[in-house]
Formats: sequence, C-alpha cells, structure tokens
Amino acid sequence: MSENLQKTLAEIARIEKQCQSLLVTATNLQELEKIKSDFLGRKGAVQALFALMGRVGADEKPHLGAALNRLKETLQAEIETRMASFQRQPMAIDSFDPSLPAKLPAMGSLHPILQVMDEVKQIFTSMGFRVEEGPEIESDYYNFEALNIPAYHPSRDMQDTFYLSGQHVLRTHTSPVQIRTMETQKPPVRMIAPGRCFRKDTPDATHSPTFHQCEGLCVDRGVSFADLKGVVQAFAQKIFADKSMRVRFRPSFFPFTEPSAEYDFSCIFCKGKGCRVCKNTGWLEISGAGMVDPAVFGFVDYDPEIFSGYAFGMGLERIAILKYRVNDIRIFFENDIRFLEQF
Ligand code: PHE
Repeated sequence: MSENLQKTLAEIARIEKQCQSLLVTATNLQELEKIKSDFLGRKGAVQALFALMGRVGADEKPHLGAALNRLKETLQAEIETRMASFQRQPMAIDSFDPSLPAKLPAMGSLHPILQVMDEVKQIFTSMGFRVEEGPEIESDYYNFEALNIPAYHPSRDMQDTFYLSGQHVLRTHTSPVQIRTMETQKPPVRMIAPGRCFRKDTPDATHSPTFHQCEGLCVDRGVSFADLKGVVQAFAQKIFADKSMRVRFRPSFFPFTEPSAEYDFSCIFCKGKGCRVCKNTGWLEISGAGMVDPAVFGFVDYDPEIFSGYAFGMGLERIAILKYRVNDIRIFFENDIRFLEQF
C-alpha cells in the first residue's frame, strides 16, 4: 500500500472521529445543521477528501473510493439520527430552565359539610360534650324501637326509610346513637353524635336522600328544658359568630322526647326583621329537640325518678346552607370542583 493511501485513510478515520465527537456534544438543531454542512456540504471536509483521490495511483483508486463512500454514508446516517432525536424533543436541554418554580400538586380541602361538622364538634366539646359515633347501617331496634317509635309511626313508612334485608335500615337520623351511648355509659352523659343519615326523599333544593345530622344528649340529675335552651342558644351564637342570635322553641312531637319542640334560629339574613329566605317570619327552622321521654330511659335501664335529660338534633346541611349562603342542598353532593374549591 502506498504511503499516500495510508495517509489518506488515516485522514478519513480522523475526520470520522471528529464529526462523531461533535455530534455527541451538539445541543440543538442549529449546531447539527452546521456540522452537516461542515462535513457533508459542497465545501465540506468529506468533499475535500474526495479531492485527494488524485494522490493515489489507478490501482488504489477503487480502495480509496470505497473508503470515502463509506465515510460519507456513515456520517450522513449518524447526522440524520441525531437530528431526528432533536426534532422529537424540541424542548430538550437548551430550553429547559431549572430555575423555574416547580409545578405544585393541586391541593384538596375539607368538604364544607365536614368543615361545619368539625366546627360543631369543637363548639360542643368546649361545653363538655363528648363525640360519639354509631353505624350508618342500623338495626330496626336502635333506629325505631328503643326510641319509642311504634310500628305504626309514619317515619317507619316504606316511603321514608331505606330498608335493608333482615331487621336493618339505613339510619334515618342520628338519634339511635343516644341509645347506644346510654347502653354503655352510666349518667352523667353529655355527648354529641355527628354523622350521615338517609331518607327516601326525592332530591330537590331542600331535600337530599343522603344528609348529615348532629345529635346531642345530656342526662344527669336535675337537667331541665332551660339547660337545653341555654346550650342551643350558646351554640347558635358561636356557629354564626353573632351574639345577637336568638333561638325559638315551638311545641312539637317526637316519640322519644316529652315535651318535644322544634327549634328555630333568628334569620341570619335579615337579623329577624323578616325577608324572603325566612318567608317574612324572622326565623329559620333548624331541627327537633326535647326532654328525653321516660319510656326511652326504660330501654337503657336509667331510672327516670333520679335522672332527666334533654336531646336535640340538627341538620348540618341546613347550617352549612345558612353559613355559606348556598341556595340548593344538592350542590353539597355533586362534587363539582368549582364549588368545592371555594372552601
Ligand atoms: N331525630 C329527630 C329528627 O331526625 C330530631 C330530634 C333529635 C328530635 C333529638 C328530638 C330529639 O327529626
């Protein structure tokens, strides 16, 4: 092999290496375009090597020609591959700014009903009440029987209650937790029981088949209706952060309280003056309450000659509606993120 052929082959190898190392460090398409023209262009390095064909004799020309063609094809292929990889990731490397702030994960928040529930718990525990829980699938005994609700009572109607198989129902109120608590604790008892309840209601602006209540129960010696009124009024003033809140009790009937009442809060919208929301009465209906019926004490073995107590319920959606000025109960259960993210 002639010395000239050897030199030219060495030059070919050098050019190939040089081009390859530039390809490795190239960081964008413009750089690659430049490499392409520097090596494969009409005035590029490979073309210049072809001009060296004249240095070798006719017998060596096919050898050199083949080596040059191989170089050209190799570099062409490698440049194309590298270019394609940049075209697939136009954002790569040079446009990545590591100093930009990170994209934070979307933060959730507590559901407004849970927030109201937490606040209710906080207010009552500050007044000495304990928080109790009961099952959402309840037996007929706890949901009705032990609450002195007879078989013919309208609330037991198939139209109002979700009946499960056996003697079970989806609890229609939180009152069964009264019984469960008194069964396991001796007086004095002072407890609240917040939780989910179910009734076979057709959903509309004020009804939802799933809703939440908070039960309250206080049993001790000498507990009177005045204690009930004081506690409920203190609660109303706390939850609406308004010292002028008033509570009104109207005679009513529940099988498990005697006497029984419905209680109202003074309208938070018009401060009791009368408006559209309170239908010009100045009052907003909250729930029922009363003194624990002696018949109920009979089911839990409390002596009604020694102990007396009061109980009350409250609808948590109703409080949330007033607190957050929402006009449709269904919105609490639709899981619309535009609503929920406001809390
Ligand atoms: N459980 C009754 C209801 O759901 C409310 C209530 C609770 C009434 C406690 C009196 C005492 O309507």
